[in-house]
Amino acid sequence: MLHARLSTLKRLFVEDRRKAHLSHIYPTIGVEKFQASEEDLLIATYPKAGTTWTQEVVDSILNEGDVEKCKRAPTQVRMPFLEMTAPDGSSSGLEVMDPPRVIKTHLPIQLVPRSFWDVIYMARNPKDTVVSYYHFDRMHLYQPEPTVHYSICLVLCKMGILGWGSWYDHVKGYWKERHNKKILYILYEDMKEDPVREVTRIAQFLKRQLSKSTIEHIVQMTAFSAMRENPMANYSTIPDTIFDRTASEFMRKGEVGDWKNHFSAGEDAAFEEHYRKIMSDCPIPIRFTI
Ligand code: A3P
Repeated sequence: MLHARLSTLKRLFVEDRRKAHLSHIYPTIGVEKFQASEEDLLIATYPKAGTTWTQEVVDSILNEGDVEKCKRAPTQVRMPFLEMTAPDGSSSGLEVMDPPRVIKTHLPIQLVPRSFWDVIYMARNPKDTVVSYYHFDRMHLYQPEPTVHYSICLVLCKMGILGWGSWYDHVKGYWKERHNKKILYILYEDMKEDPVREVTRIAQFLKRQLSKSTIEHIVQMTAFSAMRENPMANYSTIPDTIFDRTASEFMRKGEVGDWKNHFSAGEDAAFEEHYRKIMSDCPIPIRFTI
């Protein structure tokens, strides 16, 4: 049963889903031709790695913790999505924004326009990423092919055929380039463990000198519980025709280690073996628990 589903899914994902994603990406706004300004900042992640969290932290730093300024518009308006158009074909609004802009992308590094220089990359352990991805697929009615089970999602991750390509290539690509380009590489688990330390690192990267109390205030503003209640940061402005909130929530759990509630010991062991092999040439200090 699982194998039959997998072979169908493999075909659908490899052929149709990639095409569907790429058709969103290239002809509509011509990402490859996008010219970034030196002042622009790119927030890059694999989907479900904590993009929205990073965006909120960055916006809060740039606005020195001013809550009202950060509530000026929903996340996707404040920090447009480079390669995505809305399902109705309208653009992200990026081309009418003046620099300095904060822009979000899920593109792997080799597809990021070369004009971008400053990048904040957040990685999250793949097991929690996959679980989050599965639940997001359940709620997102415009995903070309929803993942039918989290175990399948885990296998698709191993095969490198989830939307936006291989998780492995993605995290490694930015890691290897982090000293050539100006890439601040942060980890979801580190941010959960010690948000004051990580927000301070991000502020330093952005060359913002903030007081200890402002950093602490930003940590509170961007905590999962606060963002979940903030309509400008929780994607509640996305209509129900796109996000089916009866299936799952965008701000779902925000934890490290939820994968333990999803995968059997056997699935976990098989994934670990694969993970260790594929990551052996790239020692990114990603943790699965904190
Ligand atoms: P879960 O589905 O595990 O809860 P992205 O923004 O890249 O789509 O990632 C979404 C994931 O980040 C979701 O994970 C979401 O709950 C989590 N997230 C969002 N804001 C967060 C925050 N302030 N703290 C921790 N996790 C957060």
